Amino acid sequence: MCGITGYIGYRDAYPIIINGLKRLEYRGYDSAGVMLYDGNSINLSKVKGKVSVLEERVQENNSGQSIIGIGHTRWATHGIPNDLNSHPHLSQSGNLAIVHNGIIENYASLRKELKDRGYTFRSDTDTEVLVNLIEEIKIQEGVKLGEAVQIALNQVIGAYAIVVFDSEKPDEMVVAKLGSPIAIGIGKDNDEFFVASDASPFIEYTKDAIYLEDGEMAIIKKGREVKIHKIQDDEEVDPNIQQLQLSLDQIEKGGYEHFMLKEIHEQPEAITDTIRGRLLPEQGIIKISGLENNMKRFLNAERIIIVACGTSWHAGLVAEYSFEEFARIPVEVEYASEFRYRDPVITEKDIVIAISQSGETADTLAAIKMAKSKGAFVFGVCNVVGSSIARINDSGVYTHAGPEIGVASTKAFTTQITVLTLMALRLARAKGTITSADFRLYLQEMELIPKKVAQLLQVDKHVKEIAQRYLLSTNCLYLGRGYNFPVALEGALKLKEISYIHAEGYPAAEMKHGPIALIDDRMPVIVIATNKGHYDKIVSNIQEIKSRSGKIIAIVTEGDITVKEMADHVIEIPETEEALSPLLTTIPLQLLSYYIAVMRGCNVDQPRNLAKSVTVE
Ligand code: M6R
Repeated sequence: MCGITGYIGYRDAYPIIINGLKRLEYRGYDSAGVMLYDGNSINLSKVKGKVSVLEERVQENNSGQSIIGIGHTRWATHGIPNDLNSHPHLSQSGNLAIVHNGIIENYASLRKELKDRGYTFRSDTDTEVLVNLIEEIKIQEGVKLGEAVQIALNQVIGAYAIVVFDSEKPDEMVVAKLGSPIAIGIGKDNDEFFVASDASPFIEYTKDAIYLEDGEMAIIKKGREVKIHKIQDDEEVDPNIQQLQLSLDQIEKGGYEHFMLKEIHEQPEAITDTIRGRLLPEQGIIKISGLENNMKRFLNAERIIIVACGTSWHAGLVAEYSFEEFARIPVEVEYASEFRYRDPVITEKDIVIAISQSGETADTLAAIKMAKSKGAFVFGVCNVVGSSIARINDSGVYTHAGPEIGVASTKAFTTQITVLTLMALRLARAKGTITSADFRLYLQEMELIPKKVAQLLQVDKHVKEIAQRYLLSTNCLYLGRGYNFPVALEGALKLKEISYIHAEGYPAAEMKHGPIALIDDRMPVIVIATNKGHYDKIVSNIQEIKSRSGKIIAIVTEGDITVKEMADHVIEIPETEEALSPLLTTIPLQLLSYYIAVMRGCNVDQPRNLAKSVTVE
């Protein structure tokens, strides 16, 4: 996690760095810091708290004279969030400054060695160890910064994206990557360079960017082309300069109070973008290039294993239902973090589908590597173009949701379900496990989904009223069956992560095996009761809750009568096929969590302890 930025060029570095940190705050926001070099000395400011706190601190001291600087927004790993543990960290001499995203696993032994050589440490971080190791190598071996960084990185175990600055060589910076992402923005004629964890901090300045690959380091120097080398053996690498597709309005709030609300409302468009060119109802086909190119492999697959974390794992569970129902391929859905450390039975006949919005989740990345090493074919479903997972997969699809900045995943979830459902249908067609009439029906229904989501977003006011009633709840239960069981899990996750209300999602029938003991007149129970999904069974579950005085908030299909009479509140969704219903039932649950969190005064875009990209295991 953690966000890092850097600038070297001719403009005032501070506003570029501070605005960049604001855009990267989704990665972590325990503390923040900036190092500015004014031509003579290093000026360091770092504070516990958000970037806005840092901004207040620096405003007083910034002379506007610095054309070089680095910045950091932290998600704490080693050492509690406080001023001292914040980045940037300086070396003992004060000449070197570093920002780091990742974890140095062997930091304790390195720290001890450095202590024995007379180094003292101000912080509890692994990063301060790294910057001192670089300094020690630079002094002892009499080498330049780039070489010292390279030697040091060959001694460390762990993951990193780093930017290192040396006041004895103030016209350059050294950037390196292993496991954590880092991009370099290139100004016209190499007259300025930007460094950041993703390209968002510099898109208004340049569209030319290099994404370093794992095991690479770059030396950036004003007026000179970027030089990239492999860290391990110093082999020179040709820079792969890419044209950024990102635009500024995609990463701004656009009049919404929060990114999460903006992203909830972007879903009709995001789903449209996801199906564009893939769903072709007039021709009666679905075409997904990553899948078409590997059709034979999919058709011969004996099993699909889905690996993911969090919300993406919930999308995987929905896919388990659709792949099995339509394509008749057995599916297992695994938490990437568990899968990677088991010794799972994987064969060359297995296909692993890895789902990740960010494409940077450490556990998912590791699960992919493990599956590949055992000979499985890995297919990725990612949102962020060019991300680590997107690059490491054998093949894959993008969801095209656009940048998702709110920590709580919303449009990423619905677009993942969209693309996975299209895949299931496409495979079913190829395998002949769906009739052409049903296939056409699903194509037509899927095409209508963006409009239905837009219609559903109108329930906003009604959901707000319900949120008002339950904002002081301390517990909440979410129930669903079939395709809507994963939606119940997702609804509960949304509520707990942004409002800090304890919530659990359950398959409705499991309620009787334990959770029913929790139900009393203070327990809101959100029940997804769509008309085509085991409706009668759900009605019985609702009766059971009612008999125990639970408060029922039901998500029903338009025109429902039975549940309406029993529930305390109902939210209607437009009619659709059950397999597509998660794309609709999810929407009111997102809105409900959002409004409850806002009414409780929580920071919905940056909930406590969380970060958008979980790049540490
Ligand atoms: O980027 P990924 O999809 O790999 O992220 C996985 C989870 O960290 C993520 O879905 C997380 O659970 C969300 N914050 C939930 O809203």
